[in-house]
Amino acid sequence: MNGRSRLILIAIALAIGGGIAALAAAPGNPKPVKQSGGIWTDRQGAPTYKISKDGTVDWGTFVGYLRYSDTCLRCHGPDGLGSSYAPDLVHALKGIDYSQFIADVAGGIKAVNSAQDLVMPSFGTDRNVMCFIQEIYVYLRARSTGALGRGRPEKRVASPKGFNQSSYKCLGISM
Ligand code: HEC
Repeated sequence: MNGRSRLILIAIALAIGGGIAALAAAPGNPKPVKQSGGIWTDRQGAPTYKISKDGTVDWGTFVGYLRYSDTCLRCHGPDGLGSSYAPDLVHALKGIDYSQFIADVAGGIKAVNSAQDLVMPSFGTDRNVMCFIQEIYVYLRARSTGALGRGRPEKRVASPKGFNQSSYKCLGISM
């Protein structure tokens, strides 16, 4: 089972269980130390970004931008900046680590006591989201530290070998 497929199982479990209430923790130092399949990880093993001085972004950040724009933008606004309906994720991600992020996205959130009835849907069984949850996190993490500005990243590294195959496999598309 590859890494993406494993994430899907965790996500489905979270969606069924209704998410987990973990203690919010700051994500820590975003410095990239290791790369696998186009995803960089930090010292804690959490997905992170790698952006060069000339603004070239890693593959994860780029794919994350596209996936965010597909699925999350309609509520959370362009570039993660929030809307009247859903919170600013550039700000929120300063205090949400990767495991909390997965729990929120896979399980969804329903505020019990808020004046408005705002609901964050559960995406745990949506493969178009869960297969790219690392990338979406990486993109938002880069936005939240200020490493990445607004808009579509202009320069990116080439697609890593095997990325399409592992994505198709996770999405359940046979080639
Ligand atoms: C239908 C609208 C909608 C969509 C689509 C949506 N969200 Fe949300 N999201 C919300 C709302 C509303 C909240 C606030 C929920 C609350 O606190 O009651 C929220 C909260 C969150 C939070 C928690 C923020 C915090 O302050 O703790 C995260 C993380 C999040 N969303 C990520 C995402 C990601 C990633 C996507 C795309 C895969 C996404 N959301 C798509 C509406 C949406």
